[in-house]
Amino acid sequence: MTESDLHGKRAVITGGASGIGLACARELASRGAHVVIADLNEQAAQDAASDLGGEAWVVDLSDTRALDELRLDADILVNNAGIQRVAPIVEFDPEAFRLIQRIMVEAPFLLIRAVLPGMYARGWGRIVNISSAHGLRASAFKSAYVTAKHALEGLSKVTALEGAEHGVTSNCVNPAYVRTPLVEKQIADQAAVHGIPESEVVEKIMLTETAVKRLVEPEEVASLVGWLVGPHSGMTTGASYTIDGGWTAR
Ligand SMILES: NC(=O)c1ccc[n+]([C@@H]2O[C@H](COP(=O)([O-])OP(=O)(O)OC[C@H]3O[C@@H](n4cnc5c(N)ncnc54)[C@H](O)[C@@H]3O)[C@@H](O)[C@H]2O)c1
Repeated sequence: MTESDLHGKRAVITGGASGIGLACARELASRGAHVVIADLNEQAAQDAASDLGGEAWVVDLSDTRALDELRLDADILVNNAGIQRVAPIVEFDPEAFRLIQRIMVEAPFLLIRAVLPGMYARGWGRIVNISSAHGLRASAFKSAYVTAKHALEGLSKVTALEGAEHGVTSNCVNPAYVRTPLVEKQIADQAAVHGIPESEVVEKIMLTETAVKRLVEPEEVASLVGWLVGPHSGMTTGASYTIDGGWTAR
């Protein structure tokens, strides 16, 4: 892969202002892509865009009706924005469940729907959906998140089948726990629902299933995303690639 293999490509990364999305934006920009940081956090999106010579698209992806008629011009779409809520089903706030489905299922569908016509016209496109080990496995207390990630897996596969004849691939990337603000924010909630001190959450909850006993780094996820949009990825579609330290080998 050359440093400029994505030169001339336009890449939209949702949730690109933080964590995994920001690492993906850095990876794609370093390879020559023009990056569009689509994020709710205006200041962080603008900072990332100016750092990377790209542009910010300040958007609330939970407002899915506003995306119904969207047309999106991009060669690469990384559906990454996401949030987490941790609670038993019987206590799970129905609005929080719906919010997670809107941001993590409806918005990816609407963005894929908006970006495909241009990709089809150009005969080339790469869609990468940041799923999770929780797209393939369940954990207690994460009903909304596990439901959304399993749905994203299905959406990605259908996109792969429809896009194939147009040069468009669609794949999922499935990390275990990654060192990002999203994980830091859930440590207190995990401690409460499991009845353990916050200091024990990483070891006793987050690393129990992985054979490699450490968090994933955002750059490790971005590196795989980079490969999935690169020059040797044309036959790779409809698949789900784990970066989970062996979690799903069990
Ligand atoms: N961190 C992990 O352990 C982990 C593991 C597996 C999968 N993932 C997935 O990776 C993705 C990114 O997670 P992260 O850990 O980097 O999170 P993060 O909290 O660091 O970043 C998420 C970004 O999404 C943005 N965002 C949130 N709601 C939005 C909305 N309504 N509209 C637009 N933007 C919005 C936030 O502003 C933020 O910049 C998520 O889909 C998450 O489910 C994370």
